[in-house]
Amino acid sequence: MDIKACIFDLDGVIVDTAKYHYLAWKELARGLGFDFTEKDNEQLKGVSRMRSLDILLEIGNKKTDEEMKLKYAESKNNKYLEYILKMTPDEILPGVIAFLDEIKALQIQTALGSASKNAMTILNRVKMNKYFDVVVDGTKVSKAKPDPEVFLKAAHELGVKPEECIVFEDALAGIEAAINGGFKTVGVGSPEILGKADIVIPGLEGITWEEVIGKF
Ligand code: BG6
Ligand code: MG
Repeated sequence: MDIKACIFDLDGVIVDTAKYHYLAWKELARGLGFDFTEKDNEQLKGVSRMRSLDILLEIGNKKTDEEMKLKYAESKNNKYLEYILKMTPDEILPGVIAFLDEIKALQIQTALGSASKNAMTILNRVKMNKYFDVVVDGTKVSKAKPDPEVFLKAAHELGVKPEECIVFEDALAGIEAAINGGFKTVGVGSPEILGKADIVIPGLEGITWEEVIGKF
């Protein structure tokens, strides 16, 4: 198996920011007069900010115009920023640094492929910039996952073919994006949600390169 690179999603794979997205969306929903549950939040994972807002408004059965939508999205993001601007390297998920150190030592290239426009802020906060050869985030793409644009761009910038890369993703939309782009996939989370991935692991804690590659 000739794998030259790994592309990592950020939220939910490298750091547990899904909880902050959830809290910020929940607060917006509360202000609009409806409840937003953790189960509802599952639908927003990996999905762009504006698409997430559309889903949230559908759940609350609220209709509104584009101008208000931009205001809601801004208000959610301001709340989200309050959380992420307090993040520290302690919030890097277990096993992430060890796995990245291992694959870097093996000359496997690394990229971040995230839908988030806040990816650089988070990487700076948790001091992880040096771990990624390439960063493609929500500021660099126009098509949201499950479109493969973010991963194709990352592979292009790394100079590798999709079939030479493994994508690590915690969201169904992200696994679908990777499959649509012709990448190999590792789902990070539960097999019930990520069953379409080539393999599913609960997280990177205790995971070695040999173990991952051995499963393909
Ligand atoms: C993804 C998250 O990584 O980024 C989504 O899984 C989020 O939940 C999306 O909506 C966009 O993030 P941001 O930070 O640009 O609002
Ligand atoms: Mg994610």
